[in-house]
Amino acid sequence: MATVIANEDRMNATAAPVRRPIHPPPVAPSHFPYNAGSLLSVQDLTLEAISHLLSRATALEEMDPLARDRILLKRRIALLFYESSTRTRTSFELASKSLGADTTLVSSLSSSIEKGETLKDTGLTLRALGAEAIILRHNSSGAPWLLEEATRLPVLNAGDGMHEHPTQALLDLRTILQRLRHSIDTVAEDTLSGVTITIVGDILHSRVARSNMLLLPRLGAQVVLCGPPPLLPELAAGVGPGIAIERDFESALGRSQVVMMLRIQAERLAGLQLDLEEYKAGYQLTGQRLAALAPSAVVMHPGPIIRGMELTAGVADGVQSAILDQVRNGVAIRMAVVERALPMNGGRA
Ligand code: CP
Repeated sequence: MATVIANEDRMNATAAPVRRPIHPPPVAPSHFPYNAGSLLSVQDLTLEAISHLLSRATALEEMDPLARDRILLKRRIALLFYESSTRTRTSFELASKSLGADTTLVSSLSSSIEKGETLKDTGLTLRALGAEAIILRHNSSGAPWLLEEATRLPVLNAGDGMHEHPTQALLDLRTILQRLRHSIDTVAEDTLSGVTITIVGDILHSRVARSNMLLLPRLGAQVVLCGPPPLLPELAAGVGPGIAIERDFESALGRSQVVMMLRIQAERLAGLQLDLEEYKAGYQLTGQRLAALAPSAVVMHPGPIIRGMELTAGVADGVQSAILDQVRNGVAIRMAVVERALPMNGGRA
């Protein structure tokens, strides 16, 4: 490369100006996560760490509740939620309590956040009150990183803006493994090889889609993204390897073992105009489409589901639906993630 540039320079000796190679400044090493117990991104986890979480989820689920209750007895965990949530908040709270921890919920609508207190000051306040870990849902992408840097506590990302939702991807993985009758306690690079997982709908605004796109191809899955251009820009295929775009829903459905439907996030559309009838005609998962094109595919949805929009009620309640399995797996996975956040001998802070 250096020789080519040197020759180019000689050839350009009489022609001005000479374009010099640009040397970007060295990238500063990332300090994140500061705390070994944090889970900010699904990318923070090695396959070994994912296997450990999966096997702990099973062990904790099967454990005698009275023994499980002592694992984090009286440890203090704060749930800090700037956005509404049913599944994630409740399952993190039940998971923490199942391990014996004390939890407190701080929501943006009933706290001093309403008066303008910053995320940093709220985090430092929770730490001063004795919180040993913070579970954060925030409408801004990157907020968990900021909170972790400010507090140095273990921070668990419960969904940040349009960025990531790592525990959702882990519980989705457990559900896929269960439904495809794999071992649910361990994964490797080829665990999902030969499996096509289609994610359908509002990919642009979906942190669930992004975390799954970052996780599932690492296990050998082919991830197909499907949706209309306003909700699925071409550059989504560049998030990582093993990801392709297919605009034709029926074609994607016909080659899928798993189909993951997404809600249109009306709260994030920001002026984007969508013809909902046209959307339903192209992308709604109906009983007819499922029976004709994917009669044995696993149907998933992170919730909340909008019946009659991205899928019909019959599909949501049908035998192929794993939607409530996903919800149940949320508790098991989050027990493992919360346990990892607060090891008995303290984390790397
Ligand atoms: N899947 C999910 O994050 O659901 P909630 O918004 O209800 O937590």
